[in-house]
Amino acid sequence: MGASTEYLDTLNAGDYILDFVGPLGVASHFENVKKVAVIGGGLGTAIAYPQAKKLHSLGAEVDMINGFRNKEMIIIEDECKKACTNLYTMTDDGSNGNKGFVTAKLEELILSGAKYDLVIAIGPLVMMKAVCDLTKKHNIKTIVSMNPIMIDGTGMCGGCRLTVGGETKFACVDGPDFDGHLVDFDEAIMRSKMFKSQEEMSRQNHRCRMEGMN
Ligand code: FES
Repeated sequence: MGASTEYLDTLNAGDYILDFVGPLGVASHFENVKKVAVIGGGLGTAIAYPQAKKLHSLGAEVDMINGFRNKEMIIIEDECKKACTNLYTMTDDGSNGNKGFVTAKLEELILSGAKYDLVIAIGPLVMMKAVCDLTKKHNIKTIVSMNPIMIDGTGMCGGCRLTVGGETKFACVDGPDFDGHLVDFDEAIMRSKMFKSQEEMSRQNHRCRMEGMN
């Protein structure tokens, strides 16, 4: 969505960026998980995939549920198939033959008797919020991966601030994984729109420079 992402997308194999810092934040820990549902929403699937793969390699039974707007937007389906026990790929419009949101599939599995120790949800904020509302009802521990706007990535600028369990946290140093039942999603959704106009300006300017129109 951002100008920097668009810029990265203009690079070709062999091009480079000046600096890359990482890994940052806290590593995920998934020991002693026996049965888990890993949910990927849209591009969040790319981040959910290594989590599912790791859990699967640790011996957990992994149900992966990925959701996309339509079948053209489905990504890494074959990779995900290999990284889990059961894969459910859902589309909003049903164009792949599986119509529905990830939450509907998750609820169906829970109601049909799946006993999850853990749910991991990675994707758009509204999707992670909806998953957490559902798992709260069923009392299943849920980890979400928060991706607020980050600037320095080292805990200094405060751009990635979140409220978790009433405390201020920085996604870049304290996260990105958090207990989804404690995250203040309404605040996170509001903050995610904070720089929308600057982002748009940056995109416009960026485009002009690339096309040599300035
Ligand atoms: S990105 Fe600046 S504090 Fe996290």
